[in-house]
Amino acid sequence: MKSTILIVDDNAASRDTLESALIEQGYHLHMAENGQQALIQAEELHPDLILLDVMMPGMDGFEVCRRIRATNGLEEVPIIMITALDDNASRLEGIESGADDFISKPFDLQELRARVRTITRLNRYHTLLEQRESLRDMAQRLVSAEEEERMRISRELHDELGQLLAAELMDIRNLQSDLTIPEVDLFERLEKLHNQTYEVMIKIRRLAHDLRPPLLSALGLKMALQSHCSKFASHSHIPVSIEIDDGVEELPDMYHIILYRVLQEALTNIAKHANASRAWVELSLEDDHAILTVQDNGRGLPDGKEKPNGIGVVGMTERVSLVGGNLDLRSGKNGGTILSASLPLKLGTSYNREKS
Ligand SMILES: Nc1ncnc2c1ncn2[C@@H]1O[C@H](COP(=O)(O)OP(=O)(O)OP(=O)(O)O)[C@@H](O)[C@H]1O
Ligand SMILES: [Mg+2]
Repeated sequence: MKSTILIVDDNAASRDTLESALIEQGYHLHMAENGQQALIQAEELHPDLILLDVMMPGMDGFEVCRRIRATNGLEEVPIIMITALDDNASRLEGIESGADDFISKPFDLQELRARVRTITRLNRYHTLLEQRESLRDMAQRLVSAEEEERMRISRELHDELGQLLAAELMDIRNLQSDLTIPEVDLFERLEKLHNQTYEVMIKIRRLAHDLRPPLLSALGLKMALQSHCSKFASHSHIPVSIEIDDGVEELPDMYHIILYRVLQEALTNIAKHANASRAWVELSLEDDHAILTVQDNGRGLPDGKEKPNGIGVVGMTERVSLVGGNLDLRSGKNGGTILSASLPLKLGTSYNREKS
């Protein structure tokens, strides 16, 4: 993508020099002749770089720079100030008003091109804006995922446990008001109450289990994953082959939870959608990534006509991207579905600190 540069200089000859130095490099160039024009154009264009002359009648470059920095959405736009050679006082004021770099007049064209290239190649400004945008997006999705989780828990508490407990209370009251019933009947009714209470206990356990994977703290990641796979296999009658690198216990705790949750959802999806007769799970540590692959031999993903409205894949993607990772879900070449979650083991994570 071509970078947009706004050149601000009151002197027509200087503008021409800058224009002819940069035009062949393939930038979109825009000109402003004074501070007022510069502010208007900066807001309109959101340029990748502003080349700003200091000495201008009316509003000087320092003031333009300060105002740009105070404008919503332009706080981070790179600004190179054009100052007289070795004018240290101006440079100091330039730094204070928010300039990123300086170029001296008369221009050394090679230096000018090199500075401009460095800044536009990094494209720091737009990368930053995009990152902010996607962070905001992710935060919103997390909030709504949390909201859905709460609604699910509240539904479960209300519809399932609430109903069961209400029925139990009624049964206990009925028993109280009928103390003369024969012993055999009493035994039967107590037995029924016992079973209902047991059911409530199981549901509470399952709810708590869904909220936090207790297996993880009790068994560590490798065994927790194995245990989940074997439970899945016995419920779904889909055998699961599993292969896990030993080093995974050293991954940070956050990675354990992410990997465990991704595996849970991936297997649930296999049971729900795949119509598979086998599944394979592999968690391996490559040089700089932990990679979880969950594969099945079922019908593969539906051809993308209808838009899926589930939140499973969205949730997995969000969890994985929390640590800068990627989630890929695709149909296999020979049928089935392959899900792969790749989590970076980049420098600075606690994983590397622990290892060094
Ligand atoms: N292993 C699989 N085999 C076939 N199709 C799959 C598989 N995994 C996912 N899909 C498809 O991808 C869609 C999206 O999955 P996702 O987990 O996001 O939603 P869901 O399972 O339908 O609902 P939810 O997870 O919210 O209960 C599914 O509806 C299904 O069509
Ligand atoms: Mg799902």
